[in-house]
Amino acid sequence: MQMLDLIRRKREGQALVPAEIEAMIQGYTAGTIPDYQMAAFLMAVYFRGLDREETAALTRAMVASGEQVDWRSIPGVKVDKHSTGGVADTTTLVLAPLVAAAGVPVVKMSGRGLGHTGGTIDKLESIPRFRVQLSQEEMVRQVKEIGLAITAQTGKLAPADGKLYALRDVTATVESIPLIASSVMSKKIAAGADAIVLDVKVGSGAFMPDLESARKLARIMVDLGREMGRRTVAVITNMDEPLGMMVGNALEVREAIAVLSGGGPRELREICLTLGSQMLLLAGAAGSSQEGRRRLETLLAGGQGLKKFRQFIAAQGGDPAVVDRPELLPGAADQVTVAAPASGYICTVQARLVGEAAMLLGAGRVTKESPIDLAVGIELKKRRGEYIHAGEPLAVFHVNDRTNLEAARERFLAAYTLAAEPPAPQPLVYEIIG
Ligand code: URA
Repeated sequence: MQMLDLIRRKREGQALVPAEIEAMIQGYTAGTIPDYQMAAFLMAVYFRGLDREETAALTRAMVASGEQVDWRSIPGVKVDKHSTGGVADTTTLVLAPLVAAAGVPVVKMSGRGLGHTGGTIDKLESIPRFRVQLSQEEMVRQVKEIGLAITAQTGKLAPADGKLYALRDVTATVESIPLIASSVMSKKIAAGADAIVLDVKVGSGAFMPDLESARKLARIMVDLGREMGRRTVAVITNMDEPLGMMVGNALEVREAIAVLSGGGPRELREICLTLGSQMLLLAGAAGSSQEGRRRLETLLAGGQGLKKFRQFIAAQGGDPAVVDRPELLPGAADQVTVAAPASGYICTVQARLVGEAAMLLGAGRVTKESPIDLAVGIELKKRRGEYIHAGEPLAVFHVNDRTNLEAARERFLAAYTLAAEPPAPQPLVYEIIG
């Protein structure tokens, strides 16, 4: 295999055979193919794409580049859920205990936030003493005991993806459907769940800006999952505006507790019920999504999700008292109100800009190595479609370090457009692709 030849052929739009893709990924993981050649190849893929066979070969090669987890010793259909990344999206913290409370084992490997999007592992770390690194034995024991475990993804799963993703991040080649599909699915397949529910985000805060591309990405990922023996479904959901009302790590844990307690934003609750009912359906624990939804609603109303969340925190070494006393979570020194500069109906709240403003306050990472402040973030006060008067609070910033406060305020206000007429409503869930 000559890397130069593969780059040239892909540049000309030709298809590569699986053995070539496999050798390329092996060479790149082993370090015999340099970054500059792989970067050129990725850019060729960005413009020319990959066909189904090539995408499947790339996914398999990335799975084979590292360890594959085996959960067969845990009885039942183990489910996982993956989001393509969003803002104020704390669904995992609600869904995982709720679905586990329905008797479906949830084994999940989660990531950290990068850029404007948040990550479950950072949120969990805001719970005092919570352990995010579990061994496989600990995961198995915990899932057998309480039906739920979440651990940080290690570099041993699909290491080729870790290396490729870092390169894509700095070469403007992230936004490619076959590259995203193979990246997400290689990690999900290696992580070993029997069933996978994918939350494919679409809108200003997502990698997929329009429904057509979200649909394509969802279709490819569902097909890849099935070809590799996993029950897979994708739900296309709105990420034009932030999903919940809290952006930031400890703030999002508070919001998850609110939803599990029967309150919280309607939109976040709705997405949790939609994704959760698909998880129950795939696991065979419900005969239809309506039945799954009804079960989850009953569990939520009966406080079983909250109870499971307490058990889960205690099992991973955290302080379960945060559930009843969220003030035990880290809090910021200052709260700064951001007022509406004019009156009108809120027509847009661009999720990406809100996420970037939270990042400027310290809630998110600019690079993988940046430190983050788990206490800070943004508490939104109004949603798209609502009317606001000039001077009324649009949000409260939770702040420790004021260095970037003005830049954050500017970025945040740029997310909003106001108008005299209310905007047309947008769907929260666009489609379910199975
Ligand atoms: N999330 C991933 O894991 N990979 C991508 O390429 C994009 C989002």
